[in-house]
Amino acid sequence: MKPSRYNEYASTVLFVKKSGRMKIDKHHCHLKLYGMGRSAAVFQIKNENKVIKIFYPSFEKIAIEEKQNYEKLNGNPYYPTIYESGANYLVMDFIEGKTFFECLAEGIPLKSHYIEQVDNGLQYAKEAGLNPSDIHLHNLILTKEGDVRIIDVARFSQEKKCTQWDDLKCGYTKYYQRAYFPKKIPRWIMYTVSKLYRLYKYLPVKKEKS
Ligand SMILES: Nc1ncnc2c1ncn2[C@@H]1O[C@H](COP(=O)(O)OP(=O)(O)O)[C@@H](O)[C@H]1O
Ligand SMILES: [Mg+2]
Repeated sequence: MKPSRYNEYASTVLFVKKSGRMKIDKHHCHLKLYGMGRSAAVFQIKNENKVIKIFYPSFEKIAIEEKQNYEKLNGNPYYPTIYESGANYLVMDFIEGKTFFECLAEGIPLKSHYIEQVDNGLQYAKEAGLNPSDIHLHNLILTKEGDVRIIDVARFSQEKKCTQWDDLKCGYTKYYQRAYFPKKIPRWIMYTVSKLYRLYKYLPVKKEKS
């Protein structure tokens, strides 16, 4: 069988690691780099309202997990629809908008009903038998119409409890909603807070001597 054009697109992408960071050396001319995360690069596809998420070589095994999780969510409007998947890629709806991270960086107010929409989307995932995890500012998108979309569901099948969204919500009600709290936050501050959060969260807990 002839490989699909998406399969061909995925095979053209060449990743290189430079100073510990993943970079893209080459890609098909129909692809335009749109975003990069910890496990993959996301490209807009020319003349299509779709993106292709191509996993870095050491994260390829996640592609199948993410595909299976999206299948469980299929049809739910809070999540993109998946059109095709391969060993190292997923093709899905392009969600035009800004991530919550970009909203904060640009001073676009995050209204409380956006938070409720995230909760509704996550509740749906739970009812579909998933364990929503890795919910952070880069994985939540606000569309022009004011709707919220959740992406990057690879870790929704992990067993351990992830408190990231509860912690973010706590920060939202405790600080962000206060009138004096700045609604535009410099990117470097958000990166620093997220680094400290991860350090604190994953630091081994010292056992007390008995
Ligand atoms: N379907 C999509 N529509 C629009 N932007 C997307 C889409 N999927 C991913 N992105 C963008 O690409 C970035 C990286 O994608 P993501 O799936 O989160 O990768 P990773 O698993 O490496 O974190 C996201 O933070 C977002 O900005
Ligand atoms: Mg992500």
